[in-house]
Amino acid sequence: MAENGLILVTGAAGQFGAVGRTVTGLLLARGVPVRAMVRREDDRAAALRTAGAEVVVGDLLEPADVARVVTGCQRIYFGMSVSAGYLEATVLMAAVARDVGVDALVNMSQMTVSEMSLRHTTPSPQQRQHWLSEQALAWSGLPVVTIRPTVFLEGFFLPLTGPSVRERSRIELPFGRGKTSPVATADVARVIAAVLADPGPHVGQIYELTGPRSQDMDGVAREYADALNREITYTDIPPEAWEQGLQRAGLPEHLIHHLVTMAALNRAGRYDRMADGVERVTGQPAMSVRDFVVRHAEEFGGRRS
Ligand SMILES: NC(=O)c1ccc[n+]([C@@H]2O[C@H](COP(=O)([O-])OP(=O)(O)OC[C@H]3O[C@@H](n4cnc5c(N)ncnc54)[C@H](OP(=O)(O)O)[C@@H]3O)[C@@H](O)[C@H]2O)c1
Repeated sequence: MAENGLILVTGAAGQFGAVGRTVTGLLLARGVPVRAMVRREDDRAAALRTAGAEVVVGDLLEPADVARVVTGCQRIYFGMSVSAGYLEATVLMAAVARDVGVDALVNMSQMTVSEMSLRHTTPSPQQRQHWLSEQALAWSGLPVVTIRPTVFLEGFFLPLTGPSVRERSRIELPFGRGKTSPVATADVARVIAAVLADPGPHVGQIYELTGPRSQDMDGVAREYADALNREITYTDIPPEAWEQGLQRAGLPEHLIHHLVTMAALNRAGRYDRMADGVERVTGQPAMSVRDFVVRHAEEFGGRRS
């Protein structure tokens, strides 16, 4: 096993939630060497290089690529976009990590896995793959730390409520009266960076991560309104109409199936969860919806003065 402190961060370019990109920045700020894995050379790869990361290009579904990028690293953050090959990529990463030897593998999962078992699963292909991935990693004997966040503010609420809040001052989602406690990717990344910097006390732990409040969508809309200093309301839209919108936007079928399941679970109250993982690991409370919207006010159409 390498003893050089080098940390591999997969999915480092970042798409929606950009956990990997944020973790890379936080580790570099701590002076920790990072090998940032991206899928292709582009502006995002160049920015990671400028920030001080060693950038490597590869496909998480290609065994030779994974062996090449893991070799020489002491620790790993494993996460990639919600996609059909997730389980295969996880098992491949586990096989390589066992072969190379690492002292920590931090695995991105989802909070819904906490409520899943052989007899109680969900229709989401992504959640099923996360559940199976956690099983496989447990069998691997690797020093795993499991991160189970609830829905992301950056990765879900910003792209999927931003346009309607900008254009109509409305949050339009098929979430019914269900409560939710979204967490900021910024907080998820802070937890992961803290674990990777000193994994010893965390190996074997499962961290569930939520924001500081579980509330229905009217409550979420009030936090938006507070942050933007203008009226923002929630409209509970039919799930079928929402799904058609996701299809029109050209999202992959795997992702649509996952999002539609999330919405159904939300309506059923399954996202009404509270967990203290962010504060327990980082010593600081999780970001509120209001503070998140303040930070991203321009993307939500701006704050009225
Ligand atoms: N969004 C949520 O609300 C939420 C909530 C809880 C948990 N999660 C979990 O968080 C994870 C997603 O994190 P995220 O939002 O930070 O990810 P992301 O930004 O969507 O994706 C990270 C990167 O993965 C890369 N990638 C995808 N397939 C790859 C491959 N075959 N080889 C190499 N790289 C590949 C993508 O590269 P390109 O950009 O080049 O395509 C992307 O930049 C998932 O495990 C998801 O289940 C998400």
